[in-house]
Amino acid sequence: MLIKTSKFKQSASSIHGCPKTAMQEYAFIGRSNVGKSSLINMLCNNNKLAKTSATPGKTQLINHFLINEEWFLVDLPGYGYAKTGKEKREKFATIIYDYCKKRDNLVCLFVLIDSRLPLQKIDFEFMMWCGENEIPFSIIYTQADKNSKAELAKHIKNIEKELLEHWEEMPNTFISSAESKLGKEDILDFIEYNYKEVNANRTKSAK
Ligand code: GTP
Ligand code: MG
Repeated sequence: MLIKTSKFKQSASSIHGCPKTAMQEYAFIGRSNVGKSSLINMLCNNNKLAKTSATPGKTQLINHFLINEEWFLVDLPGYGYAKTGKEKREKFATIIYDYCKKRDNLVCLFVLIDSRLPLQKIDFEFMMWCGENEIPFSIIYTQADKNSKAELAKHIKNIEKELLEHWEEMPNTFISSAESKLGKEDILDFIEYNYKEVNANRTKSAK
């Protein structure tokens, strides 16, 4: 998938404020500071698109970015950042859960996992929740450039070993770095494949 144009469309504080459209969308979720906004910018080759920050809790709304005038990338607030305060954390959780469960045109959720850390309880619980609610998701391991090759392989192996104690198979997984652009092509190819599938199915059911 070649991204020719990317532009900010709008921010919403709940699912009700999201664009009223049937256009496909692909959303990014994960702990605060895992690199959701940076990854969106990397995919779009546009560092000014989504706002990033070294301070966790930067993205607080559902942000829609219109791609090629045809579909959306969606940047979501992060979950589980302790210093955000209980009230805000709960507000973010409601926004996220509501969006993931009810957004009909969401084709795939990318759950971002920090490639430098062991599996975090909150990531595990969130993915289990996706499974229980039949929300299709893929995993993207982020910030790969901050590991050596050996560390990266070890971390991912440990995470997947733990997940496979609960699942029969892994969902699609990608390794990424917003810094080195690792994973860009694979992620965009995956989106393109899904995009075409969904369009073909829509055309079929319209006949
Ligand atoms: P919230 O909006 O707070 O939930 O965070 P986020 O998940 O959107 O993270 P964001 O993209 O803002 O990145 C957090 C910090 O990590 C920033 O300082 C980024 O520059 C840095 N960062 C993100 N991805 C990468 C990466 O792949 N490599 C490196 N070296 N730094 C990264
Ligand atoms: Mg962000």
